[in-house]
Amino acid sequence: MLEDLYIKPYLLSLMALRPSALFGVVMAQPFYAGLLHDWADRTVDTHTEILELGCGPGLLSHTLAARPGCSVLGLDRAPSMIQAARRRPGAAQFAVGDATETGLSDGRFDCVVGASILNVVADPVALVREARRLSRGRVSFLVPSRRMTAVTAARFAERHRLGAWSRAVLSMWSTHARKLDEGELEVIFHTAGFAAPRVDHYLDGLVVGVSADR
Ligand SMILES: C[S@@+](CC[C@H](N)C(=O)[O-])C[C@H]1O[C@@H](n2cnc3c(N)ncnc32)[C@H](O)[C@@H]1O
Repeated sequence: MLEDLYIKPYLLSLMALRPSALFGVVMAQPFYAGLLHDWADRTVDTHTEILELGCGPGLLSHTLAARPGCSVLGLDRAPSMIQAARRRPGAAQFAVGDATETGLSDGRFDCVVGASILNVVADPVALVREARRLSRGRVSFLVPSRRMTAVTAARFAERHRLGAWSRAVLSMWSTHARKLDEGELEVIFHTAGFAAPRVDHYLDGLVVGVSADR
């Protein structure tokens, strides 16, 4: 198939050599952009001062910053991601920094969010604790679920008639990303100080969003 012969080897080379370009391709896929929109619609709603942790090349930060009255800071520890985010047109601001130890002041944001970072950092509890410290309202993270396997991802791609690029992106996501299940997420949120985290499902359950209010 086209994606096995050409697209996946190209994406793998981006992963090794230019991760910011890889996540630019990921974010351009309609299924992924739609996922970020759905999650933001459900979690950000009326919040206006937003921090995005692990913003990568910044698509979500810029999308949120285009909402009326919203101001968004995107933070990522990789300078190449922040350079790519700043090159995109949009109103979000960006900074290089460690999301588990930002140095920003307590309760500075209405809402602190992060997509595909909770499953990446070495200490997820430290990440949620820092997000809780920085938020005076909501904290929400989006992560691939343990239900996402090569088989369930391929079924999803077929059911939703994804194009070759989206199929390749989803297939790589399913094989390369670290996954977390609902129980693990609830333990992480409880340990970080949240009594009642809420779990939402996306992409037919392949992805979960976990949110809590202060
Ligand atoms: C899998 S990418 C996700 C990017 C983007 N949020 C998305 O949905 O495509 C994970 C991002 O988290 C960033 N990251 C990982 N650990 C981090 C940390 N401790 N502090 C800040 N950013 C971090 C990486 O540089 C990368 O841009």
